[in-house]
This record gives sequence, structure tokens and C-alpha cells, in this order.
Amino acid sequence: MGSSVSACRLVCAEPGCKAVADRDSALTRCDSCGGLLEFAYELEATASSRWRELWRSRLGSAAPSDRSGVWRFRELLPEFGEAPPITLGEGGTPMPEAPSTAAWAGVARLTTKHLGGNPTGSFKDLGMTVAISEAARLGRPVVACASTGNTSSSMAAYAARAGLRSVVLVPKGAVSRAKLAQAADFGSLILEAGETFDQAFQALRDLAPEFGLYLVNSINPLRIEGQKTAVLEILEQRGWRAPDFLALPGGNLGNCSALGKGLRELRELGWLDRMPRILVTQAKGASPFHQMWRSGATELTPEEKPATRATAIRIGSPANWRRARRVLEMTNGLTAAVSEEEIAEAKRQLASEGIGCEPASAAAVAGVRQLRQAGEIPTSSEVVAILTGNQLKDTDYIAETSRTLDGPSPTSDVRTQLARWLSH
Ligand code: F0G
Repeated sequence: MGSSVSACRLVCAEPGCKAVADRDSALTRCDSCGGLLEFAYELEATASSRWRELWRSRLGSAAPSDRSGVWRFRELLPEFGEAPPITLGEGGTPMPEAPSTAAWAGVARLTTKHLGGNPTGSFKDLGMTVAISEAARLGRPVVACASTGNTSSSMAAYAARAGLRSVVLVPKGAVSRAKLAQAADFGSLILEAGETFDQAFQALRDLAPEFGLYLVNSINPLRIEGQKTAVLEILEQRGWRAPDFLALPGGNLGNCSALGKGLRELRELGWLDRMPRILVTQAKGASPFHQMWRSGATELTPEEKPATRATAIRIGSPANWRRARRVLEMTNGLTAAVSEEEIAEAKRQLASEGIGCEPASAAAVAGVRQLRQAGEIPTSSEVVAILTGNQLKDTDYIAETSRTLDGPSPTSDVRTQLARWLSH
């Protein structure tokens, strides 16, 4: 993997603590204060000025670790020595412009970053390649996660690739069939645990020490490292010009934490012309973070019964809320909570210009429109909306919300139906 990576240590992410932890202990929480752990780098603008050229030059290389849109940025990742990364060629996803959606939302420009183009169809692959590489490096034979679906699809694939066994805990009846099918296809053990993600996650944390399970949820600091590369790629694809807003959906808030960490490090490197504002959107029925932020409260009150058809973000007690809060403070960020109808409308709008995504992803775009209408986002804004998951992740949702999937009408023949449709 080369030796040019920057020095980094695993430390407590809580600003008042900063205790140092041993990476090989595979801990996710600080021994002294219970805060989440993260990697801290010694970054110097001068020493790293050639990284941007280096990263770009790897686009033309044939080596697997160069072809990965995550490992291409390995100078800003923890050191893996000679251990080959477990990669499926993640990253390198497209950024289609969405002019019609920009007009619909009322902003000057809306570009999507489609992370649904990753190997298992969601942004989770960016973090999973790093977390599973770590499990392999540490010789941990069984990896596990609690999931609303995408984390499990991704973990299952990368575990299979690494030759590790994987266990998924999901809330009963609350995960899309397509996502479960992926985990099953890749050979995970799938267990139903509780009614909500939060209950499944608690069950996993209770079981993990007893069974020696290596956790790959977003409390795992390696996940955050991989996911932050989305920000590097977006900035690179934009010629290192920051947008006004980065809009994303919020569930467990790992992605908000990861993108914020990426922005912080880019700022330290001196490569940010300005700090984009992060806009986190949650579904109204599962919006504890939004409520905390908007009310000015300093502690998050969990939502006991989170409810939304965007099942990916049906989470009532986000594990990463503290660091997500710091990201909003750092970026002068915003939050929104959108209704089920607003999510469905945003999804239809994106689809009308050929951009498919899953409902949770569309929520981010619904949030842009809502805050524009409320006057909190200027019309002149340039927005990059992170589309977190692929359209085919939740086809049941499409069947339930789309008029054209109603099936053949029993009362009229094909000719009549076609003629009627053409006359509209
Ligand atoms: N969008 C999609 C498609 C997701 O699958 C998730 C989270 C999110 C947004 C929210 O990201 O949790 O980092 O705030 N899915 C997790 C899972 C929880 O288990 O697949 P977050």
C-alpha cells in the first residue's frame, strides 16, 4: 500500500476528552468518557500539496487499490501496511446534474452525487471496504451489524469477499425485501431482533462481546474514514470548488459525521475555498435530531416509535448525534423534517428527469425544497444532494406510491389503455 500515508492516532472524538485508544483493541467507545472514537491525522498543507495530483494520477492505474474510489485517497486513511484492502471497486460514482429538480426546489443549481452507483447500491460500501479490511487485518472471523438494510447488504458483500462470516440483526418486518435479499445472497445469517433499528442495535451491542462479533455499524471509526472520501471525491469532481450546501438524509447520523470530518480535514489541508453548509433532512416521524437542533436543546430525546416509509432512516435514537451536532456547528448547518408526501414528491421529481433513488435519498432533496420555501436557503444556492441509495433498493415503495405500477386495468384492453394514455 505504500508508506506515504499521514501519521494518525485513534482518539476520543469528544472535544473535552481526546483520550488516546489502541487501534488493535477494536473499541468503538472511549474508556474514560464513553464518547465515540475517531482517527486524528497530523495534517500539514505543505507536505500534502502533491496529494491531489497523486489521487488524480491513480485514476489511470490498474492496481485494485488505485481503482477503488476509496483507497485512491489512502494518504487520508489509516495505515494498512502491506495488507491488501478488501475492495469491490467502490467509489468513483457519477454526479448527474438535476436542472429540473433545481427549478422545482427553487435553487440555482442542484447536482446529485449518486452513491447508489456503488457495488451493493448504497453509500455504505465506502465505509465498509475500510471496516472489513480492518476485520481482516485483525483476524476477526465474524463481523456483524444492526441495520435498516443497506449496511447489511454492504457488510454481507465485503465479508464474503474477505472470506469472513457475517451476522445481521434487523427490526422485524421493517426492512425492504431487496436489501434482505442481498444479505441472504451473500450468505449472511439474518436475525430479526425487535421492532425498531434501535432495539436491534441494542441487542447487537449486548451480544457482541459474548460472541466475539466485530461490529461494523457507523460507530466503528473505520466506517467513518471510508465514508468521508465521498467529500473528497465530490470536491475533486467539482475542481475543488465547494458548493453552498451539501444536503443529505439523516438516520443514525454516521454519514453526516463522516462528511463533516472530511470537510474538517480538507480545511486543515487548506483545500476548501469555503465551508459548505450541511443540510440534514429526517423524515417527520423519525426526526429526533431535527427536533433537538431546532429547539436549541443540548441533549437528544430519542423517538421511541420512529415511523416512516423511508425505512432506511426509520431510526429513533441516532448513535452519532453528538458528532453530527458538532458538524452542524462547524458548517453553520441546517436541519429539516419532511412529510411522507414531500418524500414521495421529491422522489417522483427526481425520477421525472431520469434520476432514480430510494426514498431516504429523496428526503434530502425534499429538505432542500422545504427550506428554500421557508426562506432559509437563498434562491442563488448551489446544492449538492447526496443520493444515498439505488432506486431498486425499495421497489415495494415504488409500487405503493406510483400510479403507473397499478397493473393492467381489468376493464379495458391494451389498445384502449394506450389510446387513453396518449390523449393525456
Ligand atoms: N440513506 C440510506 C439509503 C440509508 O441506508 C441510511 C442508513 C441513511 C440514508 C442514513 O445514514 O445512518 O449515516 O445517518 N442506513 C443504515 C443501515 C442505518 O442500516 O443501512 P446515517
